[in-house]
Amino acid sequence: MIGRLNHIAIVVPDLDAATALYRDTLGAQVSEPLRLDEHGVTTVFVDLANTRIELLHPLGANSPVARFLEKHPTGGMHHVCYEVEDISEAKNQMILNGARVLGSGEPTIGAHGKPVLFLHPADFCGTLIELEQA
Ligand code: CO
Repeated sequence: MIGRLNHIAIVVPDLDAATALYRDTLGAQVSEPLRLDEHGVTTVFVDLANTRIELLHPLGANSPVARFLEKHPTGGMHHVCYEVEDISEAKNQMILNGARVLGSGEPTIGAHGKPVLFLHPADFCGTLIELEQA
């Protein structure tokens, strides 16, 4: 059911340093930092030929990635995002298949303005999965 890999999100303790690492050391195309106040993150997009990497840094006191950084002070992979054609259908299928949908269970509007939902990492080999309606 899942389609393309949309992005991999990496939480970083120092956004400038991480941006420089991807731009200068790895030679990748990086965006300007983008404040997403409603999502509690500042993000830099790393554009690759076949997908993108999102560098995430906490923004504000209630950032959903602040606790992650407390547990993983050097940063680390936060989630992978797969595209689906229909988010409601995907949600129903996941529940039928025994996977847990996080939060209220209802899709929300994600960082790219598209409907998303998150699946419990314990059900997927320890990896937080985001499904995004493409
Ligand atoms: Co994401």
